[in-house]
Amino acid sequence: AVTTIAVIPGDGIGPEVIEPALDVLDALGLGTRTDILDHVNADTYLRTGEALTGSDLDRIRSSEAALLGAVGDPRLGDTSYVRGVLTTLRLELDLYVNYRPARLWHDRLSPLRDPARRAIDCVIVRENTEGLYSGIGGGARTGTPEEIAVDVDLSTRHGVSRVLEFAFSAARRSVCLVDKANAVRNGGQLWQRCWGEAVARHPHIATSHLYVDTAALRLATDPTGFDVIVTNNSYGDILSDLTAALAGGLGVAASANLNPVTGRALFEPVHGSAPDIAGSGTANPFGAILSVALLAEHLGRNEEADAVRRAVAAAVAAGRVTPDLGGPLGTKEVGAAVLAELRRP
Ligand code: NAI
Ligand code: MG
Repeated sequence: AVTTIAVIPGDGIGPEVIEPALDVLDALGLGTRTDILDHVNADTYLRTGEALTGSDLDRIRSSEAALLGAVGDPRLGDTSYVRGVLTTLRLELDLYVNYRPARLWHDRLSPLRDPARRAIDCVIVRENTEGLYSGIGGGARTGTPEEIAVDVDLSTRHGVSRVLEFAFSAARRSVCLVDKANAVRNGGQLWQRCWGEAVARHPHIATSHLYVDTAALRLATDPTGFDVIVTNNSYGDILSDLTAALAGGLGVAASANLNPVTGRALFEPVHGSAPDIAGSGTANPFGAILSVALLAEHLGRNEEADAVRRAVAAAVAAGRVTPDLGGPLGTKEVGAAVLAELRRP
């Protein structure tokens, strides 16, 4: 059977980076076909009030995997539209793992002063369906001096155990749990109990535990010791921007949203629609291209995934990069450079 990939280019630089990413996917010869949902964007939302329809979801559900550029538009509030698309996808497809690798492609891209501490090669495994982003909460006495607002930081045994289990399955060397169990007590204790059980199930994998503030400090000074970092939705959101910065910036960060049980998967660069540079042709396509590498890996094509990563590393080493990485090239030229590296015998 043909493998179908649903593609949502989205808004702003989304379609600009998806184009070279699809060229790379094509060049890999994986035998995939694409189902392009190019109407899922801010224009459609402004016209119809609906970002992602039931029939869009059906098309995504009947695909093997999905690839998303970015959504977001300055004309729209982020909570209704962006949350409407991203959260709907994550919750409807129950994509409970957000997998965010950070690897330094070239020494030059590191912001760290000490060369011995630059070689970051870790993965943030972020819980993607619960926590502070559960959407549960409310407000009272809105707009008055007595106004209050509550957002529930949701943890369930089911949600926590399954993401911890995935973290162990993704470990090459070690797993580090990051939480704030000393201050956020109830959820913290639930995570700690599930962690104890997961550690016992995997006696041969090295483990450690850090509070989130310490983890941020440790990452910012010496990220070299980390392999898999598993954490909740909000800490994972923030720490993965930090690890992205340590690996060369938002422009190179790729991610996968996964349900390892059902096999559903959505791949996307970590960045947003970048309205400040959209249309200038200078968006860095590496995040989207490296998301295609993660997609190839998901399809069991590890060799092709490695070939994409080697091509990106070679383009970076040759200085064939966009302005955010200090280079002179545009999106299309960088895409062409990666394709040329891929085709090199
Ligand atoms: P952003 O990631 O779009 O941009 C942040 C900064 O990084 C900007 O200065 C931008 O120019 C730069 N940047 C981002 N990607 C780049 C790339 N590939 N190459 C070069 N420079 C790049 O985040 P921002 O500005 O906070 O959000 C813009 C819109 O995107 C908002 O509507 C937001 O809600 C949405 N958004 C969507 C996401 C998604 O679709 N998964 C994720 C994050 C934000
Ligand atoms: Mg974020």
